Amino acid sequence: MNKRIVIAVDGPAGSGKSSVCKRVAADLGLQYIDSGAIYRAITWFFMDKYGDPDKVENPVLSLRDVTFSQVFDSSGKSRTFVNDKDVSLLIREESVAKNISIFSENSEVRDFVNAMLRSWASKESIIMDGRDIGTVVFPDADLKIYLDASVDVRTERRVKEYSDLGKNVDENYIRNQIIQRDDKDKSRQLAPLVKAWDAVYIDTSQLSFEEVVEKIKELIKRL
Ligand code: DC
Repeated sequence: MNKRIVIAVDGPAGSGKSSVCKRVAADLGLQYIDSGAIYRAITWFFMDKYGDPDKVENPVLSLRDVTFSQVFDSSGKSRTFVNDKDVSLLIREESVAKNISIFSENSEVRDFVNAMLRSWASKESIIMDGRDIGTVVFPDADLKIYLDASVDVRTERRVKEYSDLGKNVDENYIRNQIIQRDDKDKSRQLAPLVKAWDAVYIDTSQLSFEEVVEKIKELIKRL
């Protein structure tokens, strides 16, 4: 591919965005950017620094001297750093997820994150996933995809992910968490999760991982 391209992938939690994007990126030599990991990293930073993230008064001012970065390697792994610290695992903690909305619903934080995402994307061809990538961050993306899956299928996938890690979780608890997160992401005032009018809708409920990857690669090859 000669020209620089931007692929925006949005969708609800558990729709498979990040695994699919990582594979597509590795196969096609694109840079993968995980926007959710940045909201997680900001939340982790304030929890680590202040303990209680509710107490942070002017988050963007405090973020001025912090460096966020992300490294995607050709084996398909994405790592997120705050200054020089690798926080990739720390930001996946449930306690971080619980506090994210304090920052993801702050318009100044969103502007700060969007500027960073756009500057990272200005250098090379990228595929980025999130909630508002096709609607707010890159309304002119070359290709927009909205990945979806039923609540039941997403619950099943999450339960399997946990059991693969040797963890037993209550299926009803996971289902309720997914429903609550959907509601939060879709009903918030700022940058809610919504399909961009020109996004290609892919329901992955009845598709295998490989089938979703192939579908997206086909769409990219047509650009
Ligand atoms: O993709 P994820 O589950 O790691 O995202 C973590 C949180 O960040 C999620 O609650 C929604 C929020 N988020 C957002 O507001 N905007 C984005 N572009 C990506 C994620």
